[in-house]
Amino acid sequence: MNRPVKCMREEKFARPGEVIIAADEIADIVAGLARDISRDYADRTPILVNLLKGGVVFLADLMRQLSIPHQIDFMHVSSYENGTSSSGSVRIVDDLSCSVWDRDVLIIEDVIDTGITLAYIVNVLQLRGPRSLEVCTLLKKGAESTVHMPIRYVGKVIPDVFVVGYGLDYEESFRTLPYIATLEIVDQP
Ligand code: IMP
Ligand code: MG
Repeated sequence: MNRPVKCMREEKFARPGEVIIAADEIADIVAGLARDISRDYADRTPILVNLLKGGVVFLADLMRQLSIPHQIDFMHVSSYENGTSSSGSVRIVDDLSCSVWDRDVLIIEDVIDTGITLAYIVNVLQLRGPRSLEVCTLLKKGAESTVHMPIRYVGKVIPDVFVVGYGLDYEESFRTLPYIATLEIVDQP
């Protein structure tokens, strides 16, 4: 579903623009990440902690490519209240259902922009005593403002632009696009 949607705060419309990662390239990236993770966690059973809601499509594809036993759990975190700029404040809307004490935890994230969300979650989970804690993100923006922290697995570094598709939304639209595209703001629908 890629027809334009009305922007909430202004008399403009948003629609997917240029495709920056095609579906087959996404599949290759996900397969590569799954190979690396399966190799690195060969003798372990990690918990993949998925950050809702943007990361759900990525997780669904990634977990089916892993050749190691693993568990999944979800955390619903909100940082963007609306629109395309980070509010800078992070809120746990729903917490994990399992304990991560003494477990190998791998956070599965869709995109790291400022890194504020991730830094917050890493701190929260670190306090719960995991055996190990690493991060896997499909996309990472190359912005200067990004909070500095080690990311073990990065699918692809992209320019500092707002993107939609493959789980990523603009005001809840465009998550189901099979590719990742920039967001275009236009005057007419
Ligand atoms: P950060 O805290 O600035 O790194 O933002 C992280 C969260 O904001 C991501 O997990 C996404 O859910 C959302 N986000 C950041 N950039 C984009 C984007 O380009 N498109 C859609 N969502 C985004
Ligand atoms: Mg996210």
